[in-house]
Amino acid sequence: MKYIGIDLGTSAVKLLRMDGDGTIEKIVSRQYPIFYPRPGWSEQNPQDWFAAVVAGLKELLADCDKSKVAGISFGGQMHGLVVLDEKDAVIRPAILWNDGRTGEECRYLNEEIGRERLLTATGNIAFAGFTAPKLLWMYRHERELFARIKKVMLPKDYLAYRLCGVFCSDVSDASGTLLYDVAHRCWSQEMLELCHLKEAQMGRVYESDQTVGTLLPAVAAELGLSPAVRVAAGAGDNAAAAVGTGTVGEGACNLSLGTSGTVFLSSSAFRADPFYALHAFAHADGGYHLMGCMLSAASCSGWWIRDILKNTDLSAEQALVDETRLGENPVYFLPYLMGERSPHNDPNARGTFVGMTMDTTRSDLTQAVLEGVSFGLRDSLEAAKRLGVAVTRARICGGGAKSALWKKIVANSFNLPLEVLQVEEGPALGAAMLAAVSCGEYGSVEEAARRIVQVKETICPDPSLAEKYEQRYREFTKLYPALKPVYAVLGHEKR
Ligand code: XUL
Repeated sequence: MKYIGIDLGTSAVKLLRMDGDGTIEKIVSRQYPIFYPRPGWSEQNPQDWFAAVVAGLKELLADCDKSKVAGISFGGQMHGLVVLDEKDAVIRPAILWNDGRTGEECRYLNEEIGRERLLTATGNIAFAGFTAPKLLWMYRHERELFARIKKVMLPKDYLAYRLCGVFCSDVSDASGTLLYDVAHRCWSQEMLELCHLKEAQMGRVYESDQTVGTLLPAVAAELGLSPAVRVAAGAGDNAAAAVGTGTVGEGACNLSLGTSGTVFLSSSAFRADPFYALHAFAHADGGYHLMGCMLSAASCSGWWIRDILKNTDLSAEQALVDETRLGENPVYFLPYLMGERSPHNDPNARGTFVGMTMDTTRSDLTQAVLEGVSFGLRDSLEAAKRLGVAVTRARICGGGAKSALWKKIVANSFNLPLEVLQVEEGPALGAAMLAAVSCGEYGSVEEAARRIVQVKETICPDPSLAEKYEQRYREFTKLYPALKPVYAVLGHEKR
């Protein structure tokens, strides 16, 4: 049988068709707009997502025997707030994971309600992109719209609702709402109350590999599929990516260089970060994970090369970097173009170049951007080490992982062997694997990962380069604390 994985990303949706044995048959992608109505805000229209998914599915299925399609599932950008009224109309554009408008609501939650109480109720504290502070923001700034809310959804759950009519979520994505008691895998009544919500406004939460329903007859007819095609709950994109890279069970690590950058650490038992830097979420394999998330990763490279240098060929621009200068670049880049989540939790932080002189070149700056993202990601690894989590190797996926240069910089600035996989389609592949498990093709998510995911090569750090990067990382860690007061002033002026 065949399975479809839908990765609802921030810049595009990627749809992947997988045969039951794990062979990827076809991948298609469709873009949609993102809106930045004010500095630090970011929104999308859920209707644009669904239109792109339907068009993408038609293309994906055009050349296959549609009667062989058994299941569909999702990996989705996390934390986004989608709100529907009693007629199931979208009330306002979705507020995305990298939107920083909720500084005041996060201050209220973390300082007035208190981090300890939030940690006990949910396993996490408030970060600007999380869903609960956005609901509080709507309550304060859009009270009439808030009063119309009948359903609160995460982005990929809107797709499930439109495809099969079931109002649901999954454990991994629900974890990122700050309305969910992660350790006990249920909605937190205390948090719902704090956010002026009732449980009836939240979907039923399933494990990621559970079937939630089958295609609505009208949708099935439009796509030429059987109405018996199963829809599985799916996962937040990072948990789906972890499934797609085989980062399951105890003690595995995946790095993702997508629009966001994440360090994902899987574990069988729940644990929260008492230092508040890492998220403690449920995993799509039935267990848990810790995760650090930086808001701008591959998007920094896209911004610098496409938007500023006006070069559409990212790899040609990166090829100008002189590899003999790795570890010796005097320029630093702080990758906080959308503020920063882990570990600084500071929506006011901003992208910054430091250390330029008259002989700084274009390629020094390109190199600084790639290095700054790697260092920002390493901050999350350091947060994990502080908890005693031992990381001895990592896997990597995401658009940025297509760059050999960037992978080399990451392996050396993390001083870790980096496993590169045969297939780098983390979230879309993971979503198709979840669909396959839900249809019984595999006995468990771990079994699917064991049988499908293959390592292609391991990039080992070079000890002398890793030593140079260690020094440079130490310098990098001094920059944010020095600039934090400046960012606070700039953030204040913005208001
Ligand atoms: C994770 C996060 C991002 C988005 C990107 O906490 O906010 O990785 O899921 O789509």
